[in-house]
Amino acid sequence: MPKITVLPHPEYAPEGKVFETQGHLSLCDALLDHGVEIEHACGKVGACTTCHVIVRQGYDSLNPPEEDEEDMLDRAWGLQPESRLSCQALVDNEDLVVEIPMYSINLEKEKPPKP
Ligand code: FES
Repeated sequence: MPKITVLPHPEYAPEGKVFETQGHLSLCDALLDHGVEIEHACGKVGACTTCHVIVRQGYDSLNPPEEDEEDMLDRAWGLQPESRLSCQALVDNEDLVVEIPMYSINLEKEKPPKP
């Protein structure tokens, strides 16, 4: 089973986290299943950037990003060459090291209150 190492993030994994998961599910689902409550504002359909992660190790084992994902990632805060939308990245059998960026852009949350 692939091992996923989540680097420390003050909100989602203050101490960091290491867990094993089954392959062939999305990285977002793997994180959520193991208590890393990463945001997923669009319901995991690749239409926001709140589930953005940077895959520090094992990037090449993931399915390649589709063009739509790359377009969406262009709007993400802190974009890096190893950035992925975690809901679109499928875990294979290789271990991963994942960093959750310090900020995400959640347009849903940032909407002004309704009058
Ligand atoms: S949850 Fe919206 S793109 Fe992944």
